[in-house]
Amino acid sequence: MRMVDIITKKRDGFALNPEEIRFFIEGYVSGSILDYQASALTMAIYFRDMTDLEIAELTRAMVNSGDTVDLSAIDGIKVDKHSTGGVGDTTTLVLAPLVASIGVPVAKMSGRGLGFTGGTIDKLESIPGFSVEMSSDQFVKRVNRDHIAVIGQTGDLVPADKKLYALRDVSGSVESIPLIASSIMSKKIAAGADAIVLEVTCGDGAFMKNEKDAIRLAETMVQIGRHVGRKTSAVITDMSQPLGFAIGNALEVKEAIDTLQGKGPSDLEELVYELGSRMVTLAGKAPNLDDARKQLEQALKQGLAFAKFKQFIENQGGDPSVADHPEQLPQADFQIELPAKVSGVVAALKADQIGLAAMLLGAGRSTKDDTINYGTGIVLHKKVGDSVVKGESLLTIHSDSKQVDQVVRKLYQNITIAERADRPKLIHQIIN
Ligand code: URA
Ligand code: CA
Repeated sequence: MRMVDIITKKRDGFALNPEEIRFFIEGYVSGSILDYQASALTMAIYFRDMTDLEIAELTRAMVNSGDTVDLSAIDGIKVDKHSTGGVGDTTTLVLAPLVASIGVPVAKMSGRGLGFTGGTIDKLESIPGFSVEMSSDQFVKRVNRDHIAVIGQTGDLVPADKKLYALRDVSGSVESIPLIASSIMSKKIAAGADAIVLEVTCGDGAFMKNEKDAIRLAETMVQIGRHVGRKTSAVITDMSQPLGFAIGNALEVKEAIDTLQGKGPSDLEELVYELGSRMVTLAGKAPNLDDARKQLEQALKQGLAFAKFKQFIENQGGDPSVADHPEQLPQADFQIELPAKVSGVVAALKADQIGLAAMLLGAGRSTKDDTINYGTGIVLHKKVGDSVVKGESLLTIHSDSKQVDQVVRKLYQNITIAERADRPKLIHQIIN
């Protein structure tokens, strides 16, 4: 088999067979296929697309390119959740203890994030003492006993994705739905999930800027799940504005604590129930979505989810008293209000740009060696559709420096106040 023939076959619009797909992935990871050939093929895929069967085979070949996690020692159906990313996305911090509190095993392997704010681990590490270091043995024992544990990345999962993503990033083929779908699903499958709940975000702050692309990506990933025998369900959500109020690591932990006590932002709470009831159903803990949702609402109301959060923090070496005293979390040195320049209704809070503003404050990394200032970020007081009067604070900037001119300028440029505006719909569509 020759790589050049595989490239020309795809270039001319034909479907590749499983042997050809495996030949490409194995050869690229081992180094016998070179970057320029791989970039020609990924570009051909970008233009010519792939069939569902090709995409499933590509995903399988990628999973097989490295280590896989075996969660069979953990009782029950392991359901993982993945979001294609957003700004101020505090969902996992609430969802994980909430579903664990009704017995759904949460066995999460998590990485550190690049971009707007930290990844889930960074957020959790803003809690004094919290650590994701543990042996695989401990991990399994904890999930079996308490239904929740988060461990740092171990092993070399999906090396094909690391190599391909870096290549696509510099050769113009990131925005290919078959390549994105196989990239995401291969990592979830390699991490041992039996079933997967996907949140596919759309809007300014998301990877998919419009609903049509988000739906195609979701459908493609659900199909992959079907082909490889992992039940997958996707929720398309709005990410035109940040989720909830808080953007920034410790600020989001506080937001999660508020939400677990029933005092959270309504959009975050709604999303948690929407995703959570799918996880509970896929895990076989409820006969249908309505029942699952009722169980989750009860667990939240009765304080079970909040208690689970404390137990989880303590298990991982963190100080659980932050749950009752969030003021013990890292705090930025300065809090600066951003007053509205006119009266009206908030019509836009551009999620991506507000995320960048939080990053300028030190809440995210632009390179993987950057350090995070845990206390910094932004807390919104108004969301799209809210009325505001001139001089009223739109948001609070949490900064370790008094010098925030650049951030203030960026925020004003990306917040629109108009005469009228509707609240955006949070849940666009469900794909099963
Ligand atoms: N996220 C991923 O994990 N992979 C992609 O290709 C794009 C976004
Ligand atoms: Ca948030």
